Amino acid sequence: MPERASREASGSGGPSGPATESPRAEDVNHVGTVDVERAAATWREHGWVLCEGLVDRDTIDAAVADLALVFPTPEQYHADPDGERRRRLGTPPPSDEAYVWPPDGPGFRPLQHAWKRDFPFPGSGALNRLLVHPAIVELMTSALGADDVVVYQAQLTAKYTGFTNYEQPLHTDRNHSWLPARHGPPWDHVEGFLYLSDVTDGTAPTRLVSVRDSVRHDPGEPLVLPAWDPELYASERPAAGPRGSLLAYRNDVFHRAVDLTEPGGARFLLNVSYKVADRDWIGYHAWQSHANSSEWVAFVEGSTARELVLLGFPPPGHRVWDAALLDATARRYPNLDLRPWREALR
Ligand SMILES: [Fe+2]
Repeated sequence: MPERASREASGSGGPSGPATESPRAEDVNHVGTVDVERAAATWREHGWVLCEGLVDRDTIDAAVADLALVFPTPEQYHADPDGERRRRLGTPPPSDEAYVWPPDGPGFRPLQHAWKRDFPFPGSGALNRLLVHPAIVELMTSALGADDVVVYQAQLTAKYTGFTNYEQPLHTDRNHSWLPARHGPPWDHVEGFLYLSDVTDGTAPTRLVSVRDSVRHDPGEPLVLPAWDPELYASERPAAGPRGSLLAYRNDVFHRAVDLTEPGGARFLLNVSYKVADRDWIGYHAWQSHANSSEWVAFVEGSTARELVLLGFPPPGHRVWDAALLDATARRYPNLDLRPWREALR
């Protein structure tokens, strides 16, 4: 793994201020002053880490302005919950799930995932650029111990107080890989939640258990209900943090969503998950079906070669390139600076 310097976000410990002022800075899983090596080490040791203020607040706030194109604001939603739901989501057909969870207590309810939007996102493009933000790339390459990493999951999600019961049982995510969880380089992948709004105790901070506290459970167990192992629930910790924080966890980590309790509350985040390239058994999204969208073209034309490679674009020097393909690519993306690809062809 290359040497990486420790780095402090925003020069003062990130948008939450100095790490010592963080309400949860004493928690071993909360890395308040963003030291990427320490964050990656915590991820490897405990299975999860909350990097408080990894992305600076100004960058988040500039991008969040475009969220209004995707989701109702908290004020819009809570002023007319039924109307916003009808206007934005329509009337979905009844669920055909074989098992319907009771309305109370932990469960996996389809409405928990009703508000979501896949990459590429509309607007100024600032939301799209968050996927390849240098601080996120640095954390992902450090955690994975590799430079040839790619994004494999990218979607915006929203939750609103009262929309549904968001509480889930403890579980591991088995929907990112064909294989059971396996931890250890070079086979890992990093599931990431970039907070686009402040996540407080009242706005449903994900609860997670250190892998040190779950060794008695096979990560392949689909779920653990509270009555089955109260001690496991007693060892869970909330990942509350200011916007700009990144929650990173492994697929062998037991975790769960909880309900929003803050009146008029909402929570917005960006799922941004990374893997080492060429791990075809790991995946979540494919975006080529959006390759003809203006949002994708704008993303390409605003990116460096390195940033495009993170989305699966072939790098300069890849054997797919020849002069004719570069000319065609220039016609498709007229404002993309193709000099690195042309120079690699010589
Ligand atoms: Fe999950």
